[in-house]
Amino acid sequence: MDAQSAVYGIIGYPVAHSLSPLMHNIAFKELGVDAVYKLFPLKENELDGFFARLHESSSPIFGLNVTVPYKERVLKYLGNITPLAQKIMAVNTIVITKERKLIGYNTDAPAFLSHLVELQFNTREKKIAILGAGGSARAILAVLCMIPERPDSIKIYNRTPQRLDHLLEDLSARIDTSIVQPVASIDDLDIPEADLLINTTSVGLKPEDPSLVDVDLIHRKLLVYDLIYNPPMTPLLKTARAGGARVANGLGMLYYQGVLAFQRWANVLLDDDIKLKMRQALEKGAN
Ligand code: ATR
Repeated sequence: MDAQSAVYGIIGYPVAHSLSPLMHNIAFKELGVDAVYKLFPLKENELDGFFARLHESSSPIFGLNVTVPYKERVLKYLGNITPLAQKIMAVNTIVITKERKLIGYNTDAPAFLSHLVELQFNTREKKIAILGAGGSARAILAVLCMIPERPDSIKIYNRTPQRLDHLLEDLSARIDTSIVQPVASIDDLDIPEADLLINTTSVGLKPEDPSLVDVDLIHRKLLVYDLIYNPPMTPLLKTARAGGARVANGLGMLYYQGVLAFQRWANVLLDDDIKLKMRQALEKGAN
C-alpha cells in the first residue's frame, strides 16, 4: 500500500471482531488492485465528522460496509438509497463515487436469500420462526415478506415486545407484512410445525450463553439458521444438531453480502476462483 491506495472499510462499534477485512483484502490482492480494507470503529459522536470528511475531494475512501449499530442511522448521510434499501430502511454497503456522492445499498437481504438457495431451502409456502427484532431481523423479515416465493407464515418473537411492535409498524408502512405474526413466547413460535428457525439475536455470541430453544422443540424437518458465525457452532446450533435438525451459521450470509458489496465498489463481477478464496479466508478466520 502507498499514499495513493484507495481505502475501503467497515464502520460500526465495535468492529474489532469483524472478519470482513480478510475477505476483501484477499480479493484486492488477487485482482492486483492497489486498495486496502480497514476497520473504522466509530463512536456515535464521531459519525457526523466522518461522513463530512467523506465528501472532501482528498478523501481516499471509496466504499464502506456498515454494521451494528449504524445500519439505520447512516441513511441520513446518503445522497441516494436503492429502492430495496429504502423499503428495508437499512444500509450495510455504501459506494462513494469519484464525485464524492454517497449511494446506499442493502446487500444483507439478497445475501440471506443467496445463502438459502445454496442450502437448497425454498421459502415458498414454508412456516418460518424468527427469534429477535433488532437490526439484523429487519432485513431478513423485510425480504422474506417481499419475495415471490412467499412463505406461508412468519412467527416472530422478541424479548422486548415493544421493539417488535415498532419494527412491524415501521415495515408495514412500505411492505406487505400480512404473513407476519408477532408472538408472546418462544413456545408460541410453534417450532415443532416450522420448516425454518432463524436466530437474529445476539444470544450465542458468548460461549456461556444458553440456547434459547429447548431440544424438545427441534425436529428432523427443521433448518436452524443462526446469523452468528463466530463461534461457528452456537449453543442453539448444538441443540438443533442434537435434535436432528439441519443447521447453518451466518458465515454464508457474511460471504454473500461481502461479494455483492465488493462488486458494487469495484464495478466488476468476481470470478469463482476469487470468490472461493474470499470464502476460504472467512472460514479460516472464523475457526
Ligand atoms: P443486531 O443489529 O445484531 O440485531 P441489536 O439491534 O442490538 O443487534 O438486536 C439484538 C437482538 O438480540 C434483539 O432482538 C434483542 O432483544 P431485545 O430487543 O429484547 O433487546 C436480542 N437479545 C439480546 N440479548 C438477549 C437475551 N439475553 N435474550 C433474548 N434476546 C436477546
